Amino acid sequence: MNDSNQPGMIDLPDIVVEEKVFPEPAPLESHGPARVISMCNQKGGVGKTTTTINLGAALAEYGRKVLIVDFDPQGAASAGLGINANELDTTIYDLLVASRPDVRSVILPTGVPDLDIVPANIDLSAAEVQLVNEVAREQALTRVLRPVLDDYDVVLVDCQPSLGLLTINALTASHGVIIPLETEFFALRGVALLVETVDRVRDRLNPRLQIDGILATMVDQRTLHSREVLERLEDAFADQLFDTRIRRTIKFPDASVASEPITSYAPGHAGAEAYRRLAREIIARGDVA
Ligand SMILES: Nc1ncnc2c1ncn2[C@@H]1O[C@H](COP(=O)(O)OP(=O)(O)OP(=O)(O)O)[C@@H](O)[C@H]1O
Ligand SMILES: [Mg+2]
Repeated sequence: MNDSNQPGMIDLPDIVVEEKVFPEPAPLESHGPARVISMCNQKGGVGKTTTTINLGAALAEYGRKVLIVDFDPQGAASAGLGINANELDTTIYDLLVASRPDVRSVILPTGVPDLDIVPANIDLSAAEVQLVNEVAREQALTRVLRPVLDDYDVVLVDCQPSLGLLTINALTASHGVIIPLETEFFALRGVALLVETVDRVRDRLNPRLQIDGILATMVDQRTLHSREVLERLEDAFADQLFDTRIRRTIKFPDASVASEPITSYAPGHAGAEAYRRLAREIIARGDVA
């Protein structure tokens, strides 16, 4: 028993977190076909782009070949990986609406080995309107990605904060969805609508679509509030909640300013280790090879 009155004894914290260990993934002998995973939440600023970049970089560190699709006209994933997409002639927009034949000509390498990107810029905001009158308008991204699926182990699609046609395209092209949730009181608002949207896409367009997991981001372990929200997320989602949580730290915005993943900007930081752990968790569950 714990007795803090005895010399040399200290009080245990209220919550003892038993860290599950996810093993170091074995290297892959060959690559592809890719699992396509969309980072979705129509709520803004919950960590979709941060998760896309840093999970992508962590999976690449483990020898997985990763393609990021920037699917937000704000182009934050492109910028976060050091690409000035406003200066590019071709982006995801051209592939979607102008049906340029080869996605390979638009894919760019990043500063991280084995991590490539299909960049986006503000042009993409016009795609939503232009696609509306297309045949199979929900399958435009599926068609774009098909030629390169065998070249990658995972494709991560960074969605914009909306449930519009672009996000429906992302869900239609995906095997899985990761829903990042900021660990704050209103985190669950809107999640029911998102889950309903995933269900609708699965019913009508893409029967293989699964929710791979809910990711608690911006966790502040020191506040009771954050702990309470985590408990609510555990109650609401049980096994769907990733065991890995991402803590709030200024190193993430710092890394975006430096246009780098945290795994290279601050490789030894707990934030980098958290995304490596998420990568190991996803591989351990068999979602990604
Ligand atoms: N764990 C974290 N700790 C601290 N800041 C974070 C964390 N994760 C993300 N941020 C910061 O919060 C802001 C929003 O994050 P991010 O851009 O990843 O969210 P998003 O869901 O992609 O937003 P949007 O909906 O606008 O695309 C960014 O400035 C980012 O650097
Ligand atoms: Mg974003």
